[in-house]
Amino acid sequence: MRLVLLGPPGAGKGTQAAHVVERCSIPHISTGDMLREAIKNNEPIGLEAKRYIDKGELVPDDVIIRLVKERFGKDDARKGFLLDGFPRTLAQAKALTKLLDQLGTRLDATIYINVPDDVVVERLSGRRICRSCGANYHVKYLPPKKQGVCDKCGGELYQRPDDQAETIKNRLAVFHRQTADLIDYYRELGLLAEVPGELPPKDVQASIDARLDSLPSRPGGCAD
Ligand code: AP5
Ligand code: MG
Repeated sequence: MRLVLLGPPGAGKGTQAAHVVERCSIPHISTGDMLREAIKNNEPIGLEAKRYIDKGELVPDDVIIRLVKERFGKDDARKGFLLDGFPRTLAQAKALTKLLDQLGTRLDATIYINVPDDVVVERLSGRRICRSCGANYHVKYLPPKKQGVCDKCGGELYQRPDDQAETIKNRLAVFHRQTADLIDYYRELGLLAEVPGELPPKDVQASIDARLDSLPSRPGGCAD
């Protein structure tokens, strides 16, 4: 199964990815997570990316495409993957199509989680993440049992630096300016599976499952 998760910041891509990768036994490839890891490890690519991420701007296409190409070279990506947050520009989408052509394969679907801007702002300003295991919380919708502490591993919960009000506003503007075109791009390729993302996570998950069950390219669902 080769999938893309598309949607505005805070649409719930990471939340839903956790379920899809478990169900389909495929790796979760999130360019945002990869960049944050590179920042944490003081890698040169991380230092370059941080300048953009902190402002809510996109990291340049050539940097991101190189990152994804390298990731596709790893064994676990050979049988399938879930891309989260990539592609984000038409140039990235075309580079992905070309890369998959070279590998003799294609996408099965692009799942577009559709969420309006006001919901995005509320979700991102309340998001908290575990510093140790990366688990995702929300102060209102998915609160931890003890404030500031991860239920799963006891780690400290923190707020992403790009989840500040001004940066959220810019990330949304960037989505509408640079990423929303991809909805039409994938629709025209017959690969778009749109799901409403405003409902509670379990309901969004059910819509995604239903779309995955009915993919023409995968009559057996996630089975090979
Ligand atoms: P990235 O990390 O990809 O961020 P994003 O796309 O802005 O999306 P988020 O991770 O913020 O949100 P999400 O959709 O995963 O939502 P989540 O599940 O966490 O990218 C960060 C930055 O890196 C970019 O701005 C850019 O600078 C750079 N970058 C990355 N990829 C790039 C690329 N390809 N090209 C160029 N630059 C790139 O949910 C959010 C919150 O809502 C959580 O608290 C969650 O608990 C809650 N929630 C989730 N679902 C629901 C629901 N159904 N109901 C209620 N609450 C919910
Ligand atoms: Mg995410």
